Amino acid sequence: MTNFAPTRWIQPGVPALVLAPMEGVADVAMRALLSELGGFTFCVAEFLRISQAAPGVRVFQRHVPELLQGGRTATGLPVQVQLLGGDPGKLAQAARAAIRAGALAVDLNFGCPARTVNRHDGGATLLQYPDRIRAIVAAVRAAVPAHLPVSAKLRLGWDNIDAIHVNAERAAEGGADWITIHARTKSQGYRPPAYWKPLAEVRARLRIPVVANGEIWTSADLRRCRDETGCQHFMLGRGALADPTLGRKAARELGLPGAGLPQPFARTPAEWLPLLSRYGELCRAAEMPPAYILCRVKQWLRMNNHDGKQVWFDNLKGCRDLGELLRCLDGLAADFPPSPGELCFGHSDAAGEPAA
Ligand SMILES: Cc1cc2nc3c(=O)[nH]c(=O)nc-3n(C[C@H](O)[C@H](O)[C@H](O)COP(=O)(O)O)c2cc1C
Repeated sequence: MTNFAPTRWIQPGVPALVLAPMEGVADVAMRALLSELGGFTFCVAEFLRISQAAPGVRVFQRHVPELLQGGRTATGLPVQVQLLGGDPGKLAQAARAAIRAGALAVDLNFGCPARTVNRHDGGATLLQYPDRIRAIVAAVRAAVPAHLPVSAKLRLGWDNIDAIHVNAERAAEGGADWITIHARTKSQGYRPPAYWKPLAEVRARLRIPVVANGEIWTSADLRRCRDETGCQHFMLGRGALADPTLGRKAARELGLPGAGLPQPFARTPAEWLPLLSRYGELCRAAEMPPAYILCRVKQWLRMNNHDGKQVWFDNLKGCRDLGELLRCLDGLAADFPPSPGELCFGHSDAAGEPAA
């Protein structure tokens, strides 16, 4: 049996690296894979929307299967549950069920920009009502045992960057242990750039840690974000998928123990082959349907090709299942030599997390 280090989350003065929640992308198999590649302190699961009755324990365990194994991936990375909604009472009830299901920490989503979510009083809509943010955080904080953290994930505002100051204060007043800020407003969607500078002022004013998030694609981006914000805590989203080795590179940059050797950027078919076949194994272990797996893999490759430089990507578009895609990649490998170095799996940075 594996001996995991005690669970560590965000602590003042101790650097940390968080894998972002990404609905429809960072699923249980992807969380397991990125946990094997290493670098992260913990990850946040995709949001669970709380609209009507609070979901029961089983719903949570289906949504976040890691809850059945102590709230961690197989290699020991802690997984935080995320709730989304606008009703403090229902969210508190849901948080209680999440804890009964095995959750070790709860995050509250105040950033989702999806129209259907916002129309139903969830996600970024709440950024227009700072007092409601405080009420929701306070209700969930009261429902979750004091030794388990509750955090809030915000954007800079609905359509006004300055809203972050009051929203961050209200989240802290509600009892959040830390806040994560995606450095854009809802209106800015996912369009670059991210506006990191306001985070410096928020961080300086608050007594709780601030996790910086948005547009960190490389170690150089991480350094710039750290310089501009003064933050020691960072959340990586699309960048961690576009370059699956970014977690380890960023962990090295932050001096996190267990970050391991630097890894090459996975760019060529030969480099993607072991990643995709391992992802396929993890998806099958999670009993995901083959069509779903193929769809996820293509979505992932599109993220890697966000700069349009992967000319070989087009060859894979017509593949009808993962087996065909892997054979196709294998066939392309000789034409695109890999970069020096080799990807390795099986690392758990949980074992090397910073001490309390
Ligand atoms: C496909 C996708 C799904 C996302 N799902 C969630 C989610 O479930 N919960 C959440 O708080 N944020 C979600 N986000 C936002 C990310 O967690 C993150 O804040 C955002 O992508 C900015 O970080 P990045 O520039 O490093 O990607 C999602 C983003 C993407 C691209």
